[in-house]
Amino acid sequence: MWIKQITVHHCRIIQQAQLNFFPRFNIILGDNGSGKSSLLEALCILSRGRSYRSSRINEVITHHADSILCNAKIKQDNSDKLLSVGIQKNNKQTQIRINQQNIKNQAELSKATPITIIHPDSVNLITGGPSLRRAFIDWIAFYQNPDFYQHWKQYKRILRQRNICLRDPSQRYALPYWTEQLIALQQPLHQYRIAALKELNNNIKKIQHGLWDGAKLDIELSTGFPSDVDINDTNALQAIYQQRLDNDIKSHKTFYGIHRSELKISINGVIASQVVSRGQLKILSILLLIAQSASASTNEQEKGIIAIDDLTAELDDNNRQRLIDLLIKTKQQLIMTTTPQGMEGINLNSIEKTMFHVKHGEFESI
Ligand SMILES: Nc1ncnc2c1ncn2[C@@H]1O[C@H](COP(=O)(O)OP(=O)(O)O)[C@@H](O)[C@H]1O
Ligand SMILES: [Mg+2]
Repeated sequence: MWIKQITVHHCRIIQQAQLNFFPRFNIILGDNGSGKSSLLEALCILSRGRSYRSSRINEVITHHADSILCNAKIKQDNSDKLLSVGIQKNNKQTQIRINQQNIKNQAELSKATPITIIHPDSVNLITGGPSLRRAFIDWIAFYQNPDFYQHWKQYKRILRQRNICLRDPSQRYALPYWTEQLIALQQPLHQYRIAALKELNNNIKKIQHGLWDGAKLDIELSTGFPSDVDINDTNALQAIYQQRLDNDIKSHKTFYGIHRSELKISINGVIASQVVSRGQLKILSILLLIAQSASASTNEQEKGIIAIDDLTAELDDNNRQRLIDLLIKTKQQLIMTTTPQGMEGINLNSIEKTMFHVKHGEFESI
């Protein structure tokens, strides 16, 4: 799928913009402060309901405006018709529409807009806390398996209930019930993630050549239980929750479970964040995110859309060209921003592309 047109109102410096994209390469050129990241934030709000730069929507809405609006026309490969999607948002309410119908939850909009945003802070995926890596693998599971989202939502609700029982002695009677419910979802959710990881690893293998050679990259997923506990063994899970009970009551938190699982990324057997340089971290995080996007579907046509903010900012010339070469090989839609200087020395002559220039939040196709 690909975005044919996007309309943005009141996203930071962008008062109003409409861009017609090309199915493959789209390059947005602009000086610092011109509105490049603002456009990608609008895409992110469409796809995830929130910006990658701020959790407060008020910061993203243009000063003195009431709400942010982002509409898009999506070309799906199994249909000639364009899917029309949109979100309007402020800190009081969110309105989502798909084909002129009001939609209640963000997940439906996200399903229609599988956009992976790669930005200068994407290295946090490797250097940051485990919740970022869980979210990373869950993103793939969400697009891969239609049941994942319901199960995951249920899990979060049950976990919350169990934690209430741990905290509140008057609710303690319900603890065995919620523990049992929690146990029932461990295995299926872990399996969704294992399937997601398998697809991710397949895609990494396909694309890593030329970008990540030499050092052996391994990604493993732990269960969130001690390594000798089999997540498929309900009795073993019962026993471990029982064993941990006093501590869980003391901390008011459920210590074990897939909400504590860890995606371990290692290079030659050592945790990646400890061994690779800043430049390599950058390349590695980009590799992971491109592979993530390719894993949104096993169907070649339904793979995700890749949006890259300031691609060239922190890469040396060599890595820049290697990355561009890799991006040319992926068959997905790419929306990429850069300063004009960032493109110096990069050869894009052979590829079909649309270029835009942005200044003071206004976009012009060139
Ligand atoms: N809520 C806002 N309303 C209006 N302008 C904003 C808002 N937030 C940031 N800006 C302005 O947007 C500009 C930054 O835009 P940005 O998209 O980050 O530029 P770029 O990515 O091209 O460097 C800055 O000039 C900043 O002052
Ligand atoms: Mg920027």
